Amino acid sequence: MIFDTHAHYDDEQFDEDREALLASMQENGIGTLVNVCASVHGLQNTVDLMDRYPFVYGAIGVHPDDAGEMTEETLDTIRRLSDHEKAVAIGEIGLDYYWHKEEAEHEVQKRMFRAQMDIAREKKLPFIIHSRDAAEDTLKIVKEYMQGGMYGGIIHCFSYSKEIAAQYLDMGLYLGIGGVVTFKNAKKLKEVVEMAPLSQILLETDCPYMSPEPYRGKRNSSLNLPYVAAKIAELKGITPEEVVQTTEENARKLFGIE
Ligand code: NI
Repeated sequence: MIFDTHAHYDDEQFDEDREALLASMQENGIGTLVNVCASVHGLQNTVDLMDRYPFVYGAIGVHPDDAGEMTEETLDTIRRLSDHEKAVAIGEIGLDYYWHKEEAEHEVQKRMFRAQMDIAREKKLPFIIHSRDAAEDTLKIVKEYMQGGMYGGIIHCFSYSKEIAAQYLDMGLYLGIGGVVTFKNAKKLKEVVEMAPLSQILLETDCPYMSPEPYRGKRNSSLNLPYVAAKIAELKGITPEEVVQTTEENARKLFGIE
């Protein structure tokens, strides 16, 4: 069954039908999903979803967009919530220079990225990275941490070149692949997917964002992942079933879920 390694079902876009939607997952082939924290004030929402649904796991962390709002108390909360038995990763964390252009903001983001990488190491959990327009700094920090010993990780919504992908793959990290791979203009990402071994690819939605074709621009959900699996299968010349099965095994192995 499909494993969605990156979803945001606590987003307000799901307020009207969250319960019905999540109840329909398993009968539609979505076996497991990881709900990923993003905001400082949304950390508890992921815990509530993990407690409520047996097939929902969680990643605890704060997105670089919110780095400026983080305090020592936020880091303590992340540490505490990541002890939950269904917390399987620290994320999403990283750098976003697309929405944040000021050098001072970059410094704050880097500090909070490192602080959360420290928690991933301390708690022996994999990390989930968001990186946009910050290829060089992200790679530098990840390399530094990997040399000191980490417990695996995902570069979520991978958006850089084949050459940068190769460096993450060499470190044994995974690439999260979602709706973008189905877009006509996603030439670079298609090359990355052709090159990357299936054993280091994970399926993800980033829902409510990043709907695949033919639903581009609409609200996304895990139910659209068959379109992503089909595109990966086409690019690699294998069956969609093989993509679903191998990416599920990859996710279970990385997150330590039986
Ligand atoms: Ni996300």
